[in-house]
Amino acid sequence: FRYFRFLWRATYLSAIAGTAYLAYGVYELRHPEEQFEPDPSKKNLVILGTGWGAVSLLKKLDTENYNVIVISPRNYFLFTPLLPSCTTGTVEHRSIMEPIRSITRHKKAAVKFYEAEATKIDAERKVITIDDNSDIKGASQKTDVSYDMLVVSVGAENATFGIPGVKEHSCFLKEIGDAQQIRKKIMDCVETATFKDQSPEEVQRLLHMVVVGGGPTGVEFAGELQDFFDQDIKKWIPEISDKFRVTLIEALPNVLPMFSKQLIDYTESTFKEEKITIMTKTAVKKVTDKTVEAEATGPDGKKTMEIMPYGLLVWATGNAVRPVVKDLMSQIPAQKDSRRGLAVNEYLVVQGTKDIWATGDCAVAGYAPTAQVASQEGAFLARLFNTMAKTDAIESEIRVLSEGLNVKPGNAAEVSSSIAAHEKQLRRIKDIKPFHYTHQGSLAYIGSERAVADVSWLNGNFATGGGLTYLFWRSAYLSMCFSTRNRVLVVLDWLKSKAFGRDVSRE
Ligand code: FAD
Ligand code: NAI
Repeated sequence: FRYFRFLWRATYLSAIAGTAYLAYGVYELRHPEEQFEPDPSKKNLVILGTGWGAVSLLKKLDTENYNVIVISPRNYFLFTPLLPSCTTGTVEHRSIMEPIRSITRHKKAAVKFYEAEATKIDAERKVITIDDNSDIKGASQKTDVSYDMLVVSVGAENATFGIPGVKEHSCFLKEIGDAQQIRKKIMDCVETATFKDQSPEEVQRLLHMVVVGGGPTGVEFAGELQDFFDQDIKKWIPEISDKFRVTLIEALPNVLPMFSKQLIDYTESTFKEEKITIMTKTAVKKVTDKTVEAEATGPDGKKTMEIMPYGLLVWATGNAVRPVVKDLMSQIPAQKDSRRGLAVNEYLVVQGTKDIWATGDCAVAGYAPTAQVASQEGAFLARLFNTMAKTDAIESEIRVLSEGLNVKPGNAAEVSSSIAAHEKQLRRIKDIKPFHYTHQGSLAYIGSERAVADVSWLNGNFATGGGLTYLFWRSAYLSMCFSTRNRVLVVLDWLKSKAFGRDVSRE
C-alpha cells in the first residue's frame, strides 16, 4: 500500500511539474522580452544559413556583442531527423519547422534576418552578394551585404555524381518541399495504378518504389514507406496489396556503413521481414522517366546491367558542395586540395582566410556530415565569439587604464594592479580550447516500429536494435526537437497517425 501511495504521489508531482514546464515554455514562447536595438558601431557578424550549425550558434550567441545579420533562403529551422516521417504523414511538416523569427526574437539584442540566397562571397572585399528570389517580386533582386566576421553554414546539396537523368526524374529528401513532393507522388502512383484499364505491367511499374542510396536517409525512408503501405494504404486499397514493392539500391556491399556489423545484419534481416528488397553491390548508372539502369556485381565479380521500371524514385546518395562554397574555395589558394567543402582549422576558421568561419556540412573538419557535428560546431563558435567580445572589452579597458596611468601618476599603484588583474583575466579568457567533437552515437529508424542505435556510453560503444530501441529513438528525437511547440506538435502527430491512420489524400 505504501509503495502505491509513493507511486501515486510521484506520478502526481511529475504531472504537475510537467504541466508547469509546458506552461512556462508556451508562455516564454509567446511573450519574448523587449530587445536592445542592434548597435551599428559594433562589428557586423553575418551568418549564412538557418540549419543546424547556424541555429545552434545563434541560440548560444550573446547578440548584444555584435551587429548580427542572418541570411538564408529558408526562414525557418528544419529538424531533419524527422523529415523521412513527413514523406508519409506520420509527422506533419509544420511540426518540425521552427520559424527563424521566433528564434531571433528571443535574443537579447535584435538580429536582422534577410530571406535570400548568398550567391557570392568576396573574401577580399568582405562583401556577400545576396539574391532575394521571392515570388512576390517576380524577378530576382541582388544586393550586397558587408561583413567584419562571417560564418558560412549553408549545408550541402544532393550528390548526383552527374549520373544522367537523376536531376530530372528523381525526388530528393533534404528539404520540406522534397518530403511534400514524395508524399504527393506516392499517392499519385497508387491512385493511377488503380485507374481503369491499366495494363498489369503499368500497375507493376507504378507500384514499384525505388530508393537509391543505403545510407541512413535511404534506409529510414524505405522503412517509413513500407510502414505507410502495411499500416494504411493496404487497408484502404486492398486490391494492390500484393503489388506494392519497395527496392533499396546500394553500391557498397551493405547498407548503413557507419553502423556496427551486428546492426547492419539486423537492419537487413528486418527489411527482409518487411518485404523490402535490398540490392547491394549495385550502382545506378542511368535514370529515365520510367526506368533505373543499374550495374550489379555478382559474387564472382561479374557485372550485369539491370533495367528496373519504377513509379517513384527517391535519390539519397549523400552530399555535394554548394556552388557558393565552390566559388569561395576557388578564391582561396589554401583550399585548392579540398574536395568536400571548406577546409577549416581546429577553431573552425576557413583555412587561408581571415574572419571567415564555417560549420556543418559545408565545412571539412574531419567529422561526418551530421546534425550532431553541425550543432556542436555552432555552439563552439558561439562560445568563441562570446569570448572574443569579452576579450575586446577587456583590452579596451586595459587601454583606457594605461592612458589613465600616464595622465594621473598619483594613482599609479592602484591603476597598475587593476591592469594586472585585467591582464590575468584576459589570459584566462584567451585560453579557449580548440573545437572537440563528442560523439553521442548514431540512431536510425528501420520500419515496423524498430530502430537501431550505436550509442557511445561510458567510454565504450553499445549497439542495440528493436522495439525498445524504437522507443529510445522516439524519446531521443523528441527531446532534441527545437522548441516545446515542436515537441507538442510531434507527439500529437504520432498519436493522430496511430489512432486514425495516416492521411491517404493527395494534396
Ligand atoms: P543544413 O541544416 O542543411 O542548413 C543549411 C542552411 O543553409 C539552410 O537553412 C539552407 O536554407 C541555407 N542555405 C543554403 N544555401 C544557402 C545560400 N546560398 N546562402 C544562404 N543560406 C543558404 N544528422 C544527424 O545527426 N542525425 C539524424 O538523425 C539526421 N537525420 C537526417 C535525415 C535527413 C532526411 C537528412 C537529409 C539529413 C539528416 N541528418 C541527420 C544530417 C543533418 O541534417 C545535416 O548534417 C545537418 O542538417 C547539417 O547542418 P548544416 O547547418 O550544415 O546544414
Ligand atoms: P550517405 O552518404 O550516408 O549514403 C549514401 C549512400 O549512397 C552510400 O552508401 C553510397 O554508397 C550510396 N551510393 C552512392 N552512389 C550510388 C549509386 N550510383 N548507386 C547506388 N548507391 C549509391 O548519405 P545520406 O544517407 O543521405 O546521409 C548523409 C549524411 O547525413 C550522413 O553523414 C548521415 O550520417 C547523415 N544522416 C544521418 C541520419 C541518422 O543519423 N539517422 C539520417 C540521415 C542522414
